[in-house]
Amino acid sequence: MAGPRVCVSDFELEARRVLPKAVYDYYRSGADEQSTLADNVDAFKRWYVVPRILRDVSTVDMSASVLGQRLSMPLCVAATAMQRMAHPEGETATARACRAVGTGMMLSSWATSNIEEVMSAMTSVGEGGVMWLQLYIYKDRELTLSLVRRAEEAGYKAIFLTVDTPYLGRRWDDMRNCFKLPPHLSMSNFSTASMAFSEESYGNDSGLAVYVAKAIDPTLCWDDITWLKQHTRLPVIVKGVLTGEDAVQAVNYGVDGILVSNHGARQLDGVPATLDVLEEVVQAVQGRCEVYMDGGVRRGTDVLKALALGAKAVFIGRPVLWGLACQGEQGVVELLDLLKEELRLAMALSGCRSVSEVSRSHVRRAEFNSRM
Ligand code: GLV
Repeated sequence: MAGPRVCVSDFELEARRVLPKAVYDYYRSGADEQSTLADNVDAFKRWYVVPRILRDVSTVDMSASVLGQRLSMPLCVAATAMQRMAHPEGETATARACRAVGTGMMLSSWATSNIEEVMSAMTSVGEGGVMWLQLYIYKDRELTLSLVRRAEEAGYKAIFLTVDTPYLGRRWDDMRNCFKLPPHLSMSNFSTASMAFSEESYGNDSGLAVYVAKAIDPTLCWDDITWLKQHTRLPVIVKGVLTGEDAVQAVNYGVDGILVSNHGARQLDGVPATLDVLEEVVQAVQGRCEVYMDGGVRRGTDVLKALALGAKAVFIGRPVLWGLACQGEQGVVELLDLLKEELRLAMALSGCRSVSEVSRSHVRRAEFNSRM
């Protein structure tokens, strides 16, 4: 490494050097032409931070809460699949890092470490951190519910139900690479090769797209929220909301939270950047549940902007994978600490002494049209 890593892009550059091409491509890719992938990041540049001055920012309280759980900051780790491709310790390293930093981690159903071992990793040392499970609904409903039960028993605090993946988006690099897991890995929450994404051949296609078509239930509909809520005592957060109308519907179906997400731009290309729809969702929900966002968050000022537009907390996906690839648990701690420090500085320099002081008045949309 040339010098210290000072921003998220430094982690990505290094990760790109160390990861096998097909793995880097899988993590990095968005769907189709990847216009939403770029737009998720660019959307943050369409908003200015509006700082307030002379407010004694000698101490800044960055603590936050998600569904009543106290976190050291309003920045949490999103579900990203198959983390042992990035580092041999995969999701267990990420869990220990979240514990050390005191934030929350959403474990993917498609993890390469199982629900129980990730929870033991998180609780192995010290205090802090919280685990949530990201859930896909499988055609096999019993299998789906077994994941939920295991999460409940292991002490997970919520289920994030992904609703944007009745089929997998077209990720061109994965199709070209005929992406599949390296043979020593599997989706370790499942015991059969067909569910564990470890069959020998998936043909001449993205193996994951073939897997999803075979395993995931495309009949998923609103009544499945009722079904899931009937089967779990855990809070259910709907992940993948992009309109105010769907947000209202979700609240009416009794969800406990909404994650504004376009799945890291990996599903339907051409949908809006998540930051651009956040405020619409927040306004539609009118405080009836917590609203979170993910997509394109790469620096502390991005987190500040999302909070100002009404997010209770923000999730990051790819940057964590880059941290993991660079240096395992230590890399993820360093990455989270970096973003935390960036956010602390952004809050202090805009006159916010606590997360609750970040308000809508701290951002203003840039008027690009006036310059055209
Ligand atoms: C997993 O959720 C993926 O988008 O590949």
